[in-house]
This record gives sequence, structure tokens and C-alpha cells, in this order.
Amino acid sequence: MKGIILAGGAGSRLYPLTLVASKQLQPVYDKPMVYYPLTTLIEGGIRELCLISTPQDLPRFRQLLGDGSAWGLSIEYREQAKPEGIAQAFLIAESFIGPDAVTLILGDNVFYGGESFYRAFAEFRSGATIFGYHVNDPERYGVVEFDARGQAISIEEKPRSPKSNYAVPGLYIFDNQVVQITKDLKPSARGELEITDVNVEYMRREQLRVHRLSRGFAWLDAGTSSSLHEASAYVQTIEKRAGIKIGCPEEAAFRRGFLSLDKLEAQANRMPKCEYREYLTEVVAEAKRLARNLPQ
Ligand code: G1P
Repeated sequence: MKGIILAGGAGSRLYPLTLVASKQLQPVYDKPMVYYPLTTLIEGGIRELCLISTPQDLPRFRQLLGDGSAWGLSIEYREQAKPEGIAQAFLIAESFIGPDAVTLILGDNVFYGGESFYRAFAEFRSGATIFGYHVNDPERYGVVEFDARGQAISIEEKPRSPKSNYAVPGLYIFDNQVVQITKDLKPSARGELEITDVNVEYMRREQLRVHRLSRGFAWLDAGTSSSLHEASAYVQTIEKRAGIKIGCPEEAAFRRGFLSLDKLEAQANRMPKCEYREYLTEVVAEAKRLARNLPQ
């Protein structure tokens, strides 16, 4: 399974924050926003990644994430010259995807809690898997309607009169058909290749599964000043209470076995003295304690 992080767009709703740094580089509490979707993919076991952004912002992402080897990943970069829709990612990254299945995650979506995604990745065989999440303002999103048996029967992009409260979050798992399906799409009225049209095509082929995310799961959107602030407050609340970090790629890579304990320790030691370093140092110390307690 390959992974794509789409971090494009003008970020106009966050102006003037986005005058010099793109939306996905803005802080969500104590980390750049893109760390959160990156961590979600790592937790899902995906280590071959491609980040897509604008020609202007791409150098910053390279500077931040490098080639991924520090985290036991490989990260490639591709440009989206013009914002012509989320589904355009599959055309831009066609050579990266090759013959494989692919997960696309939007660079401004923050997820936390539960095992739903990881199970969906593990169980994925073919077709498409997307998610439904109950929200207060479905008209801002792709909206999925279910029948009485829980089968998805319609998906609409930002409908004026939503048929349900279930929004489709920005994490989509597709088999390799997605490339051809996208090639056959016509741009929408707003001139974009819509991800919703891809999902509708999988539904027409009876190959779409929609998992409803449970109430304990958090999906935060960080695309406006107030939702960005709320996402930060949420992350801070959980991190303070539980003494864990959300969206920490080093820790996720270690727990997934992409990064050895020695390498994690070396990484932490290279960081300036800061709370992030202290946290990773504690993760290392705890792992060592646990290893000592293992029966020989
Ligand atoms: C996009 C998709 C929409 C999806 C949303 C999730 O909307 O078009 O279907 O529900 O992401 O964040 P946009 O962010 O372009 O408004």
C-alpha cells in the first residue's frame, strides 16, 4: 500500500497566516499540521509516501520531512501546479503509485483515537474504503447517505440540503483502478476533479465500502482560524491529560517497527533541548524499562 499526502491549496481561509507558509505547515498546538496525517499513515503501516504540494510550498515540505529515511520511510515529492481537485493527486502521482493500492490523506485532516483506520488498512483487499463521521455541519463536506441496512446509497459533494449528517473525512483507500477512474472523470462545475466523483464511481461498480467511525473517534478540521485553534486546544487537552503525544511521527515509526530504539534515541539526541525532545527521551526510557522487564 502506497500513501499520498495532499498538501496543496492556497489556504485562503487562513490568510494572512498563509502568506508565507502553507496551511499544512501551520502549528496544530506543538507540531506542524502535516505531522498529524503523516503519523496516521505511519500508524497504518504505510512507509512509501508521496507528498504533493504547490511548486511554491514544496521546498518547505522537503526541508521539514526530507526523504523520510530518518523515520524509516521513503518520501517522494510531486508538484500540483494548479489546484484542480483532490483526485488530481492520482494523476500527478501515477508513477509513484505504480501497480499498487493507495491511501490518500488530506494534509489538513487531524484524526485521533480508535483502531478503525488500522483495521481498515489491514482488511483492505480491493475496491475502495472510505469513512463516515457524524458532524454538525455536513454541508461543508462530502456527505454519505445510508439505507436502513447501513449500506451507502448516495454521496454528494457539499450539498445544499444534506441527506444525512455523515461527512466523508479526508482519508480514502483505493485499489489501483483509481488511476483509470480519475483519467475518465470530467471536471466538476468548479473546474476540479472531485474525490466525491471517484467515490461515486466505485459505488456504481458496487465496490465501495463506507465504515462509520464511532463516537469515540475524533476528526478535526484545521482549515479555518477557529477550527485551527480548536484543533490545537483539543491536542493540548489530550496531551496534557494523558502524557502522550498525538501526531508524533518518530514515536509512531518506532512503535510500527520502522525505526529501531537506537535510531529513535539518536534522533532525540540530535534535537535541541525542548519539550518534544524530552517526550521522545521518555519514550526511549520507557521502552528500555519494558525490555529489561521481559523474561529472558
Ligand atoms: C474535501 C472533499 C470533501 C471532504 C473534505 C474532508 O473538501 O472535497 O468531500 O469531505 O475534503 O476534509 P475541501 O477540503 O476541499 O473543502
